[in-house]
Amino acid sequence: MKRICVIGTGYVGLVSGAGLADFGNEVICSDIDAEKIQQLQQGVIPIYEPGLKELVDRNVKAKRLKFTADVPEAIRNSEVIFTAVGTPMGQDGEADLTAVEAVAKTVAQNLNSYKLICTKSTVPVGTGEKIKRIIATFKNNGNEFDVVSNPEFLREGSAVGDFLIPDRVVIGVDSPRAEKVMREVYRTLFINETPMVMTNIPTAELIKYASNAFLAVKISFINEMSNLADAACADVHVIAKAMGLDGRISSKFLHPGPGYGGSCFPKDTNALAKTANDLGIRMEVVNAAIRANTNQRESVLERIRDLMPELAGRRVAVLGLAFKPNTDDVRDTPAEEIVKGLRRMGADVVGYDPIAAENFKKYYDPELEIKESVWDAVEDADLTVILTEWNELRGLDLPLLKEKMRQPFVVDGRNILSVEELKALGFSYRNMGRSKI
Ligand code: UGA
Repeated sequence: MKRICVIGTGYVGLVSGAGLADFGNEVICSDIDAEKIQQLQQGVIPIYEPGLKELVDRNVKAKRLKFTADVPEAIRNSEVIFTAVGTPMGQDGEADLTAVEAVAKTVAQNLNSYKLICTKSTVPVGTGEKIKRIIATFKNNGNEFDVVSNPEFLREGSAVGDFLIPDRVVIGVDSPRAEKVMREVYRTLFINETPMVMTNIPTAELIKYASNAFLAVKISFINEMSNLADAACADVHVIAKAMGLDGRISSKFLHPGPGYGGSCFPKDTNALAKTANDLGIRMEVVNAAIRANTNQRESVLERIRDLMPELAGRRVAVLGLAFKPNTDDVRDTPAEEIVKGLRRMGADVVGYDPIAAENFKKYYDPELEIKESVWDAVEDADLTVILTEWNELRGLDLPLLKEKMRQPFVVDGRNILSVEELKALGFSYRNMGRSKI
């Protein structure tokens, strides 16, 4: 059991803090956002993440988890400091390290005993070294410290399960003492024989980017295959399935769609490309994946134009505004560009999302007409466009959809509707790589 402070209570910090408490550690989650901390102290979880409230409540009740807005005090009272602050995309695609550097300085100023500073935020290779330099520069006593890289692999929507039962834990250390402390922090997972990759700090930092970039490449690959499949009257699902049967490829992350979004893949692929560029290394594959992803938003709009060339004055229902299901996150959501594109073509757009509608309005489109249910959204619509594969949309009652719409036109950007049923009901439709089967 370790005394841990987690700095940053976004989705990574909160899930990690509550998860580390669940492993038996004593955890204090801290944030400079006093309002957020106050909410958390009252049991209010500021983000939508399935299972998180239960995890937080359970550990608060067991007195292993606390919240504070006093970051310096939380640091002074802890041996292990996890940094989980944001690293947004900077102007040239690089990760902006302002918050990470500020935390390192605060840690240095509160280094009242040996401490281990562990980075959970996604940071470019070399950041561990930078943190070391900052702490060494700003500390004002002889207390020792270690810096560790422990990237997270949490998926939004299933982050709690990903933390408690991970595929692997990656730990980058450069001292036996730091390794020993990290083994205690993750003792529960060591006992469970979770695969642990113990390596040096730059390798751990790169593993995170390599993993996300590789998954992004897979998605961009299958997205381009879906465009080709439509042009060649082939079925991308069968292609993906057959590819996935080859164990070297695997069927995961071969679902075509409007392109990846969220807070990770777009940012991390750009940051990796920037790092490589700065180091004079060519990364053609990652750069191509980024370009293909940008194009994919446009290729959904092309399908829409192909199906309904004249959109001016037409009512279009966009179902799904979150970048993926089970989250209220709209960062880099495909819906942003696609709604914009629809508007440019003169369409009268109405949106629906079970969780993310408010965020979408807040961050992108305050004027967007939002409906409370699918059925209100599609009422009298000339076209329905599906952009997020929410379960309730997977099970959409197609006869009722046809009845409610003014005209039965559908663009299924996630391939969740049955092509057979659409055909049988007389819908005009397009999807991603199964339009012409
Ligand atoms: C991703 C990674 O999956 C996590 O392992 C990682 O920890 C996280 O980024 C991060 O760096 O913090 P996340 O962004 O929550 O997690 O979501 P994913 O489920 O990976 O989906 C990312 C995007 O790819 C979504 O827009 C999704 O719709 C899209 N996607 C995913 C596809 O278009 N096709 C697929 O086959 C899979």
